[in-house]
Amino acid sequence: MTRARVVVVGSGIAGLTVALRAVDAGHEVTLVTKDVLEHANTRFAQGGIAGVMFADDRVEDHVRDTLIAGAGLADEEAVRVLCDEGPARIRELIAAGVAFDRGEDGELAKGLEAAHSYPRVLHAGGDATGSAIEQALVSNLRNTGAAVLEHAFLVDLVLHNGRLSGVELFVGDSTHRTLRADAVVLATGGAGELYSHTTNPPVATGDGIAAAMRAGAAVADLEFYQFHPTVLDHAEPFLISEAVRGEGATLLNDRGERFTFGAHPDGELAPRDVVARAIASEMALQGNASVLLDATALGDAFLARRFPSITAALTARGFDWGSAPVPVTPAAHFAMGGVMTDLFGRTSIPGLYAVGEVARTGVHGANRLASNSLLEGAVFGTRAASVIGRDFESGDWSPRLVEAGPAGPAGAAAEHIGEQVLTPALTTADMLPFTRARLQDLMWADAGLVRDARGLGHAASVLAAWTAQPRTPQTELEMEDENLLIVATALVAAALARTDSLGAHWRSDQPRREADLASRTLESAAC
Ligand code: SIN
Repeated sequence: MTRARVVVVGSGIAGLTVALRAVDAGHEVTLVTKDVLEHANTRFAQGGIAGVMFADDRVEDHVRDTLIAGAGLADEEAVRVLCDEGPARIRELIAAGVAFDRGEDGELAKGLEAAHSYPRVLHAGGDATGSAIEQALVSNLRNTGAAVLEHAFLVDLVLHNGRLSGVELFVGDSTHRTLRADAVVLATGGAGELYSHTTNPPVATGDGIAAAMRAGAAVADLEFYQFHPTVLDHAEPFLISEAVRGEGATLLNDRGERFTFGAHPDGELAPRDVVARAIASEMALQGNASVLLDATALGDAFLARRFPSITAALTARGFDWGSAPVPVTPAAHFAMGGVMTDLFGRTSIPGLYAVGEVARTGVHGANRLASNSLLEGAVFGTRAASVIGRDFESGDWSPRLVEAGPAGPAGAAAEHIGEQVLTPALTTADMLPFTRARLQDLMWADAGLVRDARGLGHAASVLAAWTAQPRTPQTELEMEDENLLIVATALVAAALARTDSLGAHWRSDQPRREADLASRTLESAAC
């Protein structure tokens, strides 16, 4: 097969997987990352990776759980690919050196997370799954002949005659450099920096999706942004894994009462969007004070053994969660939407692939099932690497992009924005110059967990005013800010266009009753 020059942008599980598999396939691979290899979002993943690894679990059940969590918007074929191929990819991770936790009998330890009907979540180092995967894959990559370019920021995709021909990079915050490529794989992760409260590290600035949009790639489902229910409410926030609730921790309001059963029959283990909204409603009722995560029944010894990183982070912040409940609040976590792909990561632009959180494969629908994101990176990273050579050799490019939901792709949403926007007058505060902090506050207030037409219209107007302000981004930080502005504008346009509430996109002016969600879950579970 022809040896292709492949540039992979991003060094989380998706980027590392595609790079490793592309090297195996004989391609000339360069992996580019804007930080150092190890500093991708993957290393912050706590809970684990979901997959059907036990004899009494069934792929069919993983498929059904994923579809239900996705609120009816996930693409069933893509979900089947994810769940069917997941176990083989997990076995490859084990072969690559990922030491998933095991019980005393030597069998893989089982973990339960919300909306899973079976405890199929594997974990490593207790609650350090992402870090274990990142370390193993980075060390594997360093043993290959792949070139690695660290501190190299993706400025733009380079096209020639409508086909990808390379990437323009900003290296070491000083030098522009163009890398020629036969295939470019975006594995740049998400855009958690859109919001003032986020579980994501500062590198998550939507660089890949913004570059893809500038190049004209189709994107979809941007309105579906997931908020994780339980982040420590503290000056130094910290994600507290859903696996903690999977082990039996409960959520309490300021009267010490459990409240999530009012929103869903599965209570604390309802789909993530439902739990996050239930917390937000309860917080509103109690003067915006955070709710409490009560893990005291699990006991000090169990908590320290099962969740060592969370225990250490809490201790460092002065909390003893074995003795008293800790304050938690939702925060931005994961983008379900992104660059539209087919089932092999191919985008609408010849030669451009997208894998992992930057991609919209259709597997997450309107709300991602817990611990399906690492799996998505491994499964679709492998699939993309498997076709790059064939695509390059044939010159053929006719991907069947996984269809977008009823409101259509975000591009279409943007076209209709003029009809939808309520345009409240901008205040003097709104007219202040664009900064990342202002964008994050705006997005949190107007395009967060619960939205309405007025807030979204306001956000659209402010974002448009900022876009019109003259700026020439020079530094990496300034280019990241521009990327965030592009993604925020598209997200808000998509959220305005989708006037109903679905999954993580919740419009308070068009609510779907939580009772509908509950009956949807029960009906689906019964089939
Ligand atoms: C968590 O551990 O709660 C996060 C896992 C995920 O995002 O799926």
